[in-house]
Amino acid sequence: GAELTSVEEVLDRVRKELAEGRLPVEIFNSPVVFAAEQERLFRRAWLFLAHDSEIPEPGDYVLRNLAGNSVIVVRDEQGTVRCLLNMCRHRGNQVCKAAMGNASHFRCSYHGWTYANDGRLIGVPHIRTVYDGRLRRSDWNLLEVRTESYQGLIFGCLDPGAPDLEEYLGGFQFYLDIYLRPGPGGTEVYAPPNQWVTETDWKICAENFAGDGYHTPVAHQFGFQLGYYASSASTHSQGYAVHFPHRGHGIGLGRTPGMTPFFGYPDEVVQGMAEALSPAQLELFKETRTAVSTVFPNLSLLIQPFSVTPGEPGVRFCTMRLWQPIGVGRMQMLSWCLVPKDAPEAYKAEAYRAYTLAFGHGGMFEQDDFDNWSRVTAMAGNPAAQELSFPYLMGLEREPIADFPGPGVAVTPYMTETNFRNMWQTWLEYLERP
Ligand code: FES
Ligand code: FE
Repeated sequence: GAELTSVEEVLDRVRKELAEGRLPVEIFNSPVVFAAEQERLFRRAWLFLAHDSEIPEPGDYVLRNLAGNSVIVVRDEQGTVRCLLNMCRHRGNQVCKAAMGNASHFRCSYHGWTYANDGRLIGVPHIRTVYDGRLRRSDWNLLEVRTESYQGLIFGCLDPGAPDLEEYLGGFQFYLDIYLRPGPGGTEVYAPPNQWVTETDWKICAENFAGDGYHTPVAHQFGFQLGYYASSASTHSQGYAVHFPHRGHGIGLGRTPGMTPFFGYPDEVVQGMAEALSPAQLELFKETRTAVSTVFPNLSLLIQPFSVTPGEPGVRFCTMRLWQPIGVGRMQMLSWCLVPKDAPEAYKAEAYRAYTLAFGHGGMFEQDDFDNWSRVTAMAGNPAAQELSFPYLMGLEREPIADFPGPGVAVTPYMTETNFRNMWQTWLEYLERP
C-alpha cells in the first residue's frame, strides 16, 4: 500500500527545494501539514484577534477563533482588553453564544456559574450548601490568553515564551502605519467583518497578499476593462517589494508613474497623514497606488483605488482580512473595511462602498481571487501532483535596494517572488522547531 508521508519528510523536501527556488505542491491541502501548522505555527505566532474599534466600550465583546480556540475578546469594566477562552470551567459549556454584544457578566446556561467580563468567576449557585467551602472561586476563572496591540490591532499569542508583539513585528510597523495611521486618530472598522467559509488553503491567500502583483492584470482584468480600476501589466510591474527575514512579513508597493500624489483620498485625509506619518513614510506612500501586505502568518491589509462609478478616477479603500484555517484545505474568512477615524463621513461611506464592490464577500476582486484559490487548493489534492513543485524563481538573484527609505529588505520591481520565498522560509523555520 501507499506509504504515508511524515511531516518531517515534507519539510526536508521544502528546505532543499526552497534553496533552489521551488516549493513542493504537497504542502497545500495536506492533513499532515495542517496538523503541524496548528501545533508549531499557530500556537506560537501572534495572531490577529480584533480591532479596537469593534469593542470601544466597557463590556463590548466579539467572539473569535484563536488557533482553533473559541475566545471572547472583551473590554472589561476597567477598559482593559482581554482574550478569554469561551469555555465554562465547571463542565466546559460555551459561556458566551452571541457573536458580538455587550455584557458585564457571562452566565453559563448549564449550571449558572457566572463570570465577570474580566474572566473572574464571581457567582456559583448554592456554593455554601453544596461545596462545603471546598471550591475556591479564584481557582476557576476563565482561562486568559496573552494579548498585545499595535495601532488598534489586537493580537493574541498562545505561547507564553514568545517574544512580545513589538519584536514579532520587528520593524514592519513602518509599513503597517500606511494602513493604520491615516491621521492622528488612527483607523476604525466601518462595520462588522464579512465572514464566510471557503474550500481554500489559507497559505495561498497569505502569499497572494504578500505582494502578488503578477496576478492582478490577469485575474482582475474584467474589472479593468469595465472601468472599475485603471491598471495594466506595465503599471503593476512598477514599485517595490519589501520583506522581513525570519519574521515572514511582506508588503508590495505598486506604483503608477505620473500618478497624482495621494490620489483617491480627500484633502482631510492627506492632511491627517501629513500629521501622523514620518517624512520617510510619506515619501514612499505618496507615490504608492496599491499597498498589499501580509503580517505573518495570516493577517493581510490592502489599500487600493476603486471607481464606484466606472470610468471615474476612484476612491481609496482599505481592507483588512484574516485567513483562518479551520480544516484541511478549508478556511474561515473575515474581511473588514478600515477607514480613517477623523475622515469626513461621506468619504468613509464611499470607501466602504468601494470596499464592498471590490472585496466584500460578493466583491468582484474577491470572486476573481477565490475562484482561482479554491481551484489551486483542489488541484493540489490531485494524487498525481504530489511529486510536483511550483517555481519561485522571480527575482531570485536580484540585489536589495541599498538606500531604500524604509526598513526591511526592499527590491524592485513590485512584481517579484522575493517576499514569498521569505514567507515560506519563515513558515519552514516555525515548522522545523519541534
Ligand atoms: Fe457551566 Fe456547569 S458547565 S456551570
Ligand atoms: Fe487579487
